[in-house]
Amino acid sequence: MRKTSVYLPDHLKRALTARASATRRSEAEVLRAAIELEVRARGPAAVKAVIAHDSPQPGRLVGVGVGPGDPDLLTMRALHALRRADRVIGPSTSQDAIGRAETILREAAPDVPVERVAFAMHPDAEIRAQAMGEIAGTVAGYLDDGDEVAFITLGDPLTYSTFSSLADAVDARRPGTLVEVVPGIMAFQSLASRTGTTLVDERQRLSVRTALDGDNDDDLARDLADPQCTVVLYKGGRHLPALTEAARRAGRLDGAVVGELLGMSGQRVGPLRQLGEAPASYLATVILPAPEGAVPPTVLPAPTGATDVVDDEVGLDEGQDRDPGGERVVAS
Ligand SMILES: C[S@@+](CC[C@H](N)C(=O)[O-])C[C@H]1O[C@@H](n2cnc3c(N)ncnc32)[C@H](O)[C@@H]1O
Repeated sequence: MRKTSVYLPDHLKRALTARASATRRSEAEVLRAAIELEVRARGPAAVKAVIAHDSPQPGRLVGVGVGPGDPDLLTMRALHALRRADRVIGPSTSQDAIGRAETILREAAPDVPVERVAFAMHPDAEIRAQAMGEIAGTVAGYLDDGDEVAFITLGDPLTYSTFSSLADAVDARRPGTLVEVVPGIMAFQSLASRTGTTLVDERQRLSVRTALDGDNDDDLARDLADPQCTVVLYKGGRHLPALTEAARRAGRLDGAVVGELLGMSGQRVGPLRQLGEAPASYLATVILPAPEGAVPPTVLPAPTGATDVVDDEVGLDEGQDRDPGGERVVAS
């Protein structure tokens, strides 16, 4: 046995004392067991990475994106933040229902316990706001006690996620709360990679939007009418047949894809032409690629006295680089 000493912040010291007393062990025994679990679960490489990282900060709220479904799309940074936090909170419809984000986390890191908070899915905005207020009160209480709290969300925490409203509501109760975000891979990125769909290139643009009203939406019609605009549709599962028809009218069915329950059991991925005839569930994403707009390589006028040259350096944007073969350009 070798002796070591360690300084603990007050909130951890309190938690250690409580845990030792509740389990009738000495504090040293509890510490040994915790370290053992940590080291065994992670392996030597991960332990090194963890040592290089920071420690929990009392009163910090961290929004953690867990990706769209596949457990291996949860990033290493997310995993670290979740293991570091004193509490991990997950949204759910009720205390006895496991939310999507929690399911992903259970697969990726079964060692991380999740405390559920029930979000009201009520159509009445006042009832929803009241439920959000109660959750914010709970989270603010944990932060006041000196805990670092991680809140998990599907995909990315800053894209159509409850995290933004929660962070605002917590800040209203505890002005100046330290809030950080660990980005997550989004559903449309997963769908694009599964189907080999280029999202945007050259001067095309990307419109990520909801389709809660189906095709009855002037802004959507404008995006569809722009041949250089790739359109990503979230929350349109129940309107899939109407959206498919709108895509057909706009000449947008070629290359259009839909992904339902990506990375989850029951997943469906395929051309909108085939899958868009019937409604899908809420967890469905559609990509309608821009039919035009990828600019062909620029041919510069040949310098006097030289032969014609295709300069593939022209048209490189910031953040782009040549691939090792020197011919194609790839975004970094
Ligand atoms: C509340 S938003 C969450 C978006 C998420 N924060 C993101 O960054 O992708 C829910 C919508 O995201 C899309 N979505 C999220 N996860 C998905 C999945 N696993 N499969 C298909 N679509 C998904 C669906 O369009 C769904 O209606």
